[in-house]
Amino acid sequence: MAEKVYQCTVSAPVNIAVIKYWGKRDVGLNLPTNSSLSVTLSQDDLRTVTTASCSKSFEKDTLWLNGHVEDISTSKRLSVCVEELRSARQGLEKEDDSLDKISQLKLHVVSKNNFPTAAGLASSAAGYAAFTEAVARLYGLPWTPTQLSRIARQGSGSACRSLFGGYVAWEMGELHSGADSVAVQVEPVEHWPEMRVAIMVASAAKKGVSSTSGMQSTVASSTLFQKRVKNIVPERMQAMKQAIRKHDFETFAKLTMTDSNQFHACCLDTFPPIFYLNDTSRAIIRVVENINAAAGKTVAAYTFDAGPNAVVYFLEENSAYVLDTLYAVSRNAQGWEDSERNPTSVKIDDVASE
Ligand code: DP6
Repeated sequence: MAEKVYQCTVSAPVNIAVIKYWGKRDVGLNLPTNSSLSVTLSQDDLRTVTTASCSKSFEKDTLWLNGHVEDISTSKRLSVCVEELRSARQGLEKEDDSLDKISQLKLHVVSKNNFPTAAGLASSAAGYAAFTEAVARLYGLPWTPTQLSRIARQGSGSACRSLFGGYVAWEMGELHSGADSVAVQVEPVEHWPEMRVAIMVASAAKKGVSSTSGMQSTVASSTLFQKRVKNIVPERMQAMKQAIRKHDFETFAKLTMTDSNQFHACCLDTFPPIFYLNDTSRAIIRVVENINAAAGKTVAAYTFDAGPNAVVYFLEENSAYVLDTLYAVSRNAQGWEDSERNPTSVKIDDVASE
């Protein structure tokens, strides 16, 4: 007789930070040097779908990521997540004798992104959020998204923010254990549902310097970074939360752009320097400035992660104006991938994974 297979499928969204996480104070536990804040994008457009299963017939913990097979035990980040979730399941099994002892079975996890081929987006946030939630649900853990975020954080820092919809903060915490370094929702999507993003793909290639190694070089060598984490980010986090609460797009936009600029300035201040932006990225910064100058107010805000692709925030009411201008740029200028897809316009969303 075939062995029973226990299974659970979830999906998780991408998030794009407006106050950037960059720097670890504890590499092992993946604890950040500063708090960060992001907006969660709609799963209709961008999501990772993950199925976790376990069975007596499985021989080892294995992950299939977009079709590539990986032994979970050879990845420190994946193993940490699995160990914590498995031991929580063991705890439940000890308390309740009627539960199947599935913590003793090997796991198979299949994960797939639905991102447009050339989205060029970092997928680790949605990936680790979906991984954590799929295994937690398979194990029937009665955990809140904030509790799950502590696990997802250890897979990839930005992943902890993908467990919530809307506007999300990752509070850096103070404890050495990392127990208080978790994500919390600042406001749900319904609070300010008019927010939109356009993703402009300057390059779909894998980034040259990974976030993990890039941020470690910055922590080790940048003096500007020291000032950023101590004197600038704490106030900016408060100001950004206020702007979101008051639906103040101009302040939201200014903080978003200056924080992206400062993050890239810290990369340049790293020794040897790290360059994530290219000429195409810098051209989009000018275009957004021109959009705002022509509108006579700030209606669009750019931000860039650890790569050259632009994410532009705007409100629904300015959608036609902002998108038409960005389309014209990608059609008429060199440097953009597949102009048919540029920009990809995405709504923001709540997390409703089933
Ligand atoms: C620039 O979350 O990918 O996108 O914790 O090492 O996996 P690790 O880093 P990761 O870094 C994301 C950096 C960023 C900013 C952000 O998302 O806040």
